[in-house]
Amino acid sequence: SYNRWKSITIEEGLMGFFDDAQEMLDKGVSMAKGAVSGVAVEQQGFVKGFVRLCNDGWDQGWHERNGGNATYRLTPEDLSSCRSYFYDTPSSWVPLGLAAPGMRCSFFLATRAGGFMRNVALDPDASLGIVELNAEGDAWRIVWGFKNGGMPTSEFASHVLIHEARAAATEGASRVLYHAHPVNVVALSAVLPLEARTFTRALWKAMTESVIAFPEGIGVVPWMVPGGPDIARATADLMDAYAACVWAQHGLFCSGVDFDATFGLMHTVEKAADIYVRARLLNGGGDFPNTIPDAGLRAIAAMYGFTVNEAFLEV
Ligand code: 13P
Ligand code: ZN
Repeated sequence: SYNRWKSITIEEGLMGFFDDAQEMLDKGVSMAKGAVSGVAVEQQGFVKGFVRLCNDGWDQGWHERNGGNATYRLTPEDLSSCRSYFYDTPSSWVPLGLAAPGMRCSFFLATRAGGFMRNVALDPDASLGIVELNAEGDAWRIVWGFKNGGMPTSEFASHVLIHEARAAATEGASRVLYHAHPVNVVALSAVLPLEARTFTRALWKAMTESVIAFPEGIGVVPWMVPGGPDIARATADLMDAYAACVWAQHGLFCSGVDFDATFGLMHTVEKAADIYVRARLLNGGGDFPNTIPDAGLRAIAAMYGFTVNEAFLEV
C-alpha cells in the first residue's frame, strides 16, 4: 500500500527491487539454461546417432510399448562438449545393485525406464538422460535429461556390466549397447536348444552375411527374470566372447563400436532368424536340403580376412 511504501527508506526499497530483480533473473537464467541445455546436448553427434538408432528400431517393429532400451558410453570428447550443459545439481546417487569397477566414473546416455522408443525422436531430453557412474562403479546419478522425472532403463545394471565386459573384450572400442524384442529371434528361442553353438550355426548357415556380421557367434541366456543382477551377470559372462546375446523368450542384446555397427548387428541377426524361421515353415521342420556348408563358412572368413569361431564349425 501507499503507507507501507512510505514507511521504508529509498535504500531499503531499492535493495528489495534489486533482490526481486536478481531472483527473477536467476529464475530466467535457469529456465533459459534448461532450454538451451536440452537443445545443445541434442545437437551433439552422439545424441543424434542414438536417437536415430531408437527411431530405426521402432520402424523395424522391435519395440512394442516400452520394449527395448539402449545405452552409449560417452568418450572424453563427448563429455567435454556437453558437460557445461549438465544440471548444476545432479540427482542423488542410486545404488546399481552390483559393482562394475571397470566402468567407474563413466558417463552413459541411456533410454528412460518405461519409455517408448517411438517417442525418443519427439522429445529426446525427456526420453533420454545422461547418467554418471561413481568412483566404485556401483551407483549412478542423473546429470542431464530425464526431464519431467524418470530414470535410466530398468536394465541399466545389465547394460553397465555388459559395457564392462565388451570394453574389456575390445580394448575399450565397444561403446553402444542395444536391447530389442525382434520377433523371429524370440520365436526361434521357443524351438531351438538354448545354447550358443546351435543358435549360431542355424543363423550362420541360413544367410551368407551372418558369419561376416558375427564371426564369433552369438550367446544365449536361458529365460530369466529381467532387471536384476542375475541376468546381468549371466549376459555379461557370455558377452566376454560374443558381441550379441539372445535372451530366450525375451529378445536380443547387441553391442558395437558405434551406432551403425550395433544396429547393423541387430538387423543381421534378426534377418537371419527370419530367413531360418521361414525356411523351417516352408520345409515343415527338419533339416534343410540347402544350407551353407562348414567349408563355405571357412571360405567366407578366408575371403574377407577375419577369424571365425572354429569351436562352432565341424571338422
Ligand atoms: P525399460 O522400459 O525399463 O527399458 O524396459 C524395457 C525392456 O525391454 C525390459 O527388458
Ligand atoms: Zn526387454
